Amino acid sequence: MPKRTIEYVEVKNKKVLIRVDFNVPQDDNGAITDDRRIEMALPTIRSVLDRGGSTILISHLGRPEGAPDPLYSLEPVANRLRELVGRPVAFATDTVGNDAVSKAASLKPGEILLLENVRFNSGEKKGEANYAKVLASMADIYCNDAFGTCHRTEGSMYAVPLAMEGRPRVVGLLVEKEIKYLSEVIRQPKRPFVAILGGAKVSDKIKVIDNLLKVCDQVLVGGAMAYTFSLAKGEMVGKSLVEPDKVELARELIERGGDKLVLPVDTHCGDKFSADCHKKIVPSGQIPDDFQGLDIGPETAQKYRTIILAAKTVVWNGPMGVFEMPPFDVGTRAVAQAIADSHSTSIIGGGDSAAAISQLGFEDKVTHVSTGGGASLEMLEGKSFPSVEILDDA
Ligand code: 3PG
Ligand code: MG
Repeated sequence: MPKRTIEYVEVKNKKVLIRVDFNVPQDDNGAITDDRRIEMALPTIRSVLDRGGSTILISHLGRPEGAPDPLYSLEPVANRLRELVGRPVAFATDTVGNDAVSKAASLKPGEILLLENVRFNSGEKKGEANYAKVLASMADIYCNDAFGTCHRTEGSMYAVPLAMEGRPRVVGLLVEKEIKYLSEVIRQPKRPFVAILGGAKVSDKIKVIDNLLKVCDQVLVGGAMAYTFSLAKGEMVGKSLVEPDKVELARELIERGGDKLVLPVDTHCGDKFSADCHKKIVPSGQIPDDFQGLDIGPETAQKYRTIILAAKTVVWNGPMGVFEMPPFDVGTRAVAQAIADSHSTSIIGGGDSAAAISQLGFEDKVTHVSTGGGASLEMLEGKSFPSVEILDDA
């Protein structure tokens, strides 16, 4: 069921509580290293401000354990938001304490207030009613624009909208867009529809492979999980990273997938996990005892490129090799290049594949780069989210 979006709510002179996902990566000095999640929340924030409303923004950052921890303060995010949005941003040093409550109460149309990390409160994790009630009392409208957190049901995602029953409860423009690409496009894809799945573990991707095998024309496999599939076929994997306890599952997927499940035909391996190891390209399943697979080989990259170029819809999640350790980034780069060169509707899952696309400067050459890691995977698994279900239908 499509959800009502913020654009369809009268916000003039109203306060909108917007749950955003400002859980951004930071370096050792606390500097924000990637502000896409902040940037992607701007359309919703601007939509409210431009129409004469005000916004109270709430988010988590990291995983503090229900008590304040300066390491996870959202204050640096407030500063970055101020630069990006080009307007003043007020910051409250608590979430449901005196500072937040009084700043929220005196908020004027056109103003932005960001509250401190919701996970500094013990009530957030369990969704305690008293905690949720304070946040709910601050605003006239609830808006979920925190796509990266939609697979969670903690207080600000679920108990707060629950406590705001009777007032408008809607999705923001980012959540609307993410659902459109990660769920609707996939439900009715233009064909051929090709998924490319990589990453270290089969166990992380089992449900995704399973779901995508039902809807895709082909599922291309890369990353270390290919070696568990090799093992399932009784092939030689050398010292490669494998999950012996997932071999049975891999065998089932091979059986169920048939021709749809496409495995690498060659492997770029090394005699240790290091850029300066001795390297070798071997047919897949023939990795020597003292070597480990670290990337797909050139023949696989070429084969996958041909398949991707013919596709009308592409979904990609997970690197093909050890992307952070050249030259084992070559396979991942080749896949990114093929997607960029294709004329398909292309959807890039969050995490490592999103990072690869942005490092290569291909953001403008793909249709959608998700801001969700876990959330985008769960959406590709075909799951629906209680945090979205609870909101108003369109
Ligand atoms: C994420 O980055 O995965 C989201 O912000 C959710 O964070 P969490 O995994 O700590 O709940
Ligand atoms: Mg996570």
